Amino acid sequence: MTDFIEGLPKAELHLHIEGTIEPETLFRLAARNAVDLRYDSVESLRAAYDFGNLQDFLDLYYQGMAVLQTEEDFYDVTWAYLEKAHAQNVLHAEIFFDPQGHTSRGVAFETAFEGVWRALEDGRERLGVSSRLIPCFLRDRDADEAKAALEQALHYRDRLIAVGLDSAERGNPPVKFKEVFDRARDAGLLTVAHAGEEGPADYVRQALDVLRVARVDHGNHAADDPALMERLARERVPLTMCPLSNLRLQVVADLRNHPLRRMLDNGLLVTVNSDDPAYFGGYINENYRAVQKALGLSNDELARIARNSFHAAFLPEEEKRALT
Ligand code: ADE
Ligand code: ZN
Repeated sequence: MTDFIEGLPKAELHLHIEGTIEPETLFRLAARNAVDLRYDSVESLRAAYDFGNLQDFLDLYYQGMAVLQTEEDFYDVTWAYLEKAHAQNVLHAEIFFDPQGHTSRGVAFETAFEGVWRALEDGRERLGVSSRLIPCFLRDRDADEAKAALEQALHYRDRLIAVGLDSAERGNPPVKFKEVFDRARDAGLLTVAHAGEEGPADYVRQALDVLRVARVDHGNHAADDPALMERLARERVPLTMCPLSNLRLQVVADLRNHPLRRMLDNGLLVTVNSDDPAYFGGYINENYRAVQKALGLSNDELARIARNSFHAAFLPEEEKRALT
């Protein structure tokens, strides 16, 4: 079974580049940039990765990204992810980054963007890993700040495929970002949003109806609403699910109850992804393995999920065909 998962060609569609900084790398970059960490060893940092909810994680995630200071740092972290993805037979990756997480602490948008981009180019040339880049707005900050971030991002319009929405969900409904998303779509970008991770099914509806998303990131709580489930299946809206993230952030108490099983059985277009692998204990194959085991997925079902990931990718059909 393990070999079967490793051998499956996969696309990864829900991956925060700032969530791929392994503790060892975090310490190395902190030393390189003379950044003070609140932890005195890799072990004590790892021990802190014991999250009660999304906010507990986000507190450490924003602290962790402070080690990213130079273009080289962004390059190194992105390159390390691409090597890992390549080793796990990821043929295509759509990568989130959080510009406001960097500009708010004095690192220029350009520094983050160019470092990540250069690694993606090298990944295409040297590893054959196809990729796209998706800046996300931080939903727990105000909409005007997101608007400013979008204007910065639009300087790089040709090198972006979509915009996204992430960070603390509860109390920050999609509708808060209607204008920003309207502007992004007017500029020809696709849209995605985290919805229904900790927030209710209604946030998934808002993401569809107000932000006009082409995919829903997570979407777990759509399972609470039968009419919404039926709509997601009928409209073939892809969901980028992240099982180990859900387990570690207590979105599900036990992977045996993960909604992916019911969604798959009801014909929803679900995919499996790693979210923030350095924090949640596994990259894409570990996520596939965990749901396979917990939900008893057959090889046919695993292959269907992997096929879904290419179907849901923001790539022209001919590029998809060339990959698979
Ligand atoms: N930022 C990084 N990972 C996230 C997640 N799982 N949910 C919301 N925001 C995030
Ligand atoms: Zn995420």
